[in-house]
Parts: sequence; structure tokens; C-alpha cells
Amino acid sequence: MKIGIDAGGTLVKVAYRGSDNIGYQTFPSQDIDDAVSWLYDTFENPTVCITGGKSQLLAEKLMAPAKTLVEFDATNRGIQFLAGQQRHSFENNFMFVNVGTGTSIHHVNEGEQQRIGGSGIGGGTLMGLAYLLTGVEDYARMVKLASNGDRGNVDLKVKDIFEGALPPISGDLTASNFGKKESMLAYNPSASDILASIIGMIGEVIVTISSQMAAQYNVGSIVYIGSSFLSNPLLRDIIEEYTKLAGKEPVFLEKGEYCGALGSLLSLD
Ligand SMILES: Nc1ncnc2c1ncn2[C@@H]1O[C@H](COP(=O)(O)OP(=O)(O)OP(=O)(O)O)[C@@H](O)[C@H]1O
Ligand SMILES: [Mg+2]
Repeated sequence: MKIGIDAGGTLVKVAYRGSDNIGYQTFPSQDIDDAVSWLYDTFENPTVCITGGKSQLLAEKLMAPAKTLVEFDATNRGIQFLAGQQRHSFENNFMFVNVGTGTSIHHVNEGEQQRIGGSGIGGGTLMGLAYLLTGVEDYARMVKLASNGDRGNVDLKVKDIFEGALPPISGDLTASNFGKKESMLAYNPSASDILASIIGMIGEVIVTISSQMAAQYNVGSIVYIGSSFLSNPLLRDIIEEYTKLAGKEPVFLEKGEYCGALGSLLSLD
């Protein structure tokens, strides 16, 4: 049995070949031993290829030597596979942005990827800031609460500054993330409001950097992947809207969080 594993900073993603489909599994990276137990409970003599920041840590826990792969190349391979399967047709010249614990930005030309930038603002930022500001620890709870939040209680928009006067840019743009301090004094934002604003800030930072790089590298499409989009329509919507505003096509792949694991799996063929 062939198994591809992407052992990331937060989550371990596994892709394996079932009888007529590809199976997927995820474990928290903190519980990496559970992933190892599951692997040997589920498969007999698995052939494993690992990628991701925790590759070495995981490899040392396996009973047989595993192949390892450079994460960015594995991810690129997984993207090409999913894009083909899901009939997304973007040009040979595109970008992918992996919003994992942190964010990594890549340019792909004629099949070859090159890392062109990144940001420490990513899914881990949501986990940490959410905990610090609201005490919420559970990811599912965070994104659920955020869906009912009102960013208007936390973030300052351009129109809030102009107070009815005509602004030179859209009044609906964020002038200052978390900038509504004066109204916070009068009205305490709820945990939902704060969580929505954290997600908003993360999305806006990522989409700003990504679309500027898309202009610089002259690409038409930006593929966004990573587990940070799971059950998080707020993040996805912000990134989708602003990518389009920048004149670029946003692409979200189904199972996009498994690109690294899929690339590893495919490399065993
Ligand atoms: N069940 C979950 N538990 C924790 N975080 C989750 C969960 N589902 C989604 N997330 C979000 O996904 C993020 C991790 O994304 P991803 O799995 O792509 O990163 P990673 O591969 O572990 O990290 P990196 O690639 O940066 O090493 C988390 O920071 C969190 O925002
Ligand atoms: Mg990752």
C-alpha cells in the first residue's frame, strides 16, 4: 500500500490509494504518535513518502525507512493533480498560496515552482490571536463563532473616517484592522466580532501580498490551498473577492489541504 504524508506544523495530512479512490485522513501534529499507530493498524507493510516540516520527526517514528520529498515540489504536484481532476484550467503560468500554519507563496511556470515569498500571517495566527483575545481554543468553535461576528464593531472602514464625505477610494475598504478603539470603549465587541475581525485581517494581509505578487509575476490565476480554508467561508470570501478586485482569478481546490500529501503519494508511482 502506498501512502503520502504531509506532516505540517499543525496538522498531519495523509493520502492513500483505496480500491478505486484516494482516501484521506488528518491528525493534529501534536498527536503524531496517533498517526503512526493508525498507519500500522490500517496498513500492512505500507510504502511511505513524507513531506512537510515535521518529515524527519515522523520518519524517525516509522518502522521502515520512508522516502522524503521537498514540500514545495510535493505541493505543486498535488495541485496539478487536483486541478486536472477537478477540470480547472488555468494557464501554465500561475501562483499558489499555501495558507497553513504560516503562509507560503509560489510561482509556477511550465510546471516548475519557485517560492517567491510568504508571511507569518496564516492559520496559526488565527489560533494564537483567537486564544489570546477570546480564550477560544477549538478551531471548529472559532470559525463557527466568527460566522456570526460583526467586523463593524472592531475594524475601522474608510467611510468611518470620512463620516459621510466622499472618499477617494471605496468607503467599504478596511482603513484600519482593529482600528475602532474609540467605539470599543463604549461598546465591547463580542467574541464573535473579534474572531471575524482576526480572520478578516489575516485574509486581507494574505490577499494583498498575493495579488501584488500576481501583478509582479504577471499571472492570471492564484490557487489558494491549505487547511486554513476548512469550514472558514469568511476567509475564503475575503480572499476570493479581493483577488477578483485585483483582476486575478482565485482558484480554490477541493481537498486542497491535501496537496502535499497527494504529491508525496504520486511520487511513489
Ligand atoms: N482541526 C483543526 N485543528 C487545528 N487547526 C485547524 C483545523 N482545521 C483547520 N485548521 C486551520 O488550519 C491551519 C493549519 O493548516 P495546514 O494544515 O495547511 O498547515 P500545516 O501544514 O500544518 O502547517 P505548515 O505548512 O505551515 O507547516 C491551522 O492553523 C488552523 O487555522
Ligand atoms: Mg503545510
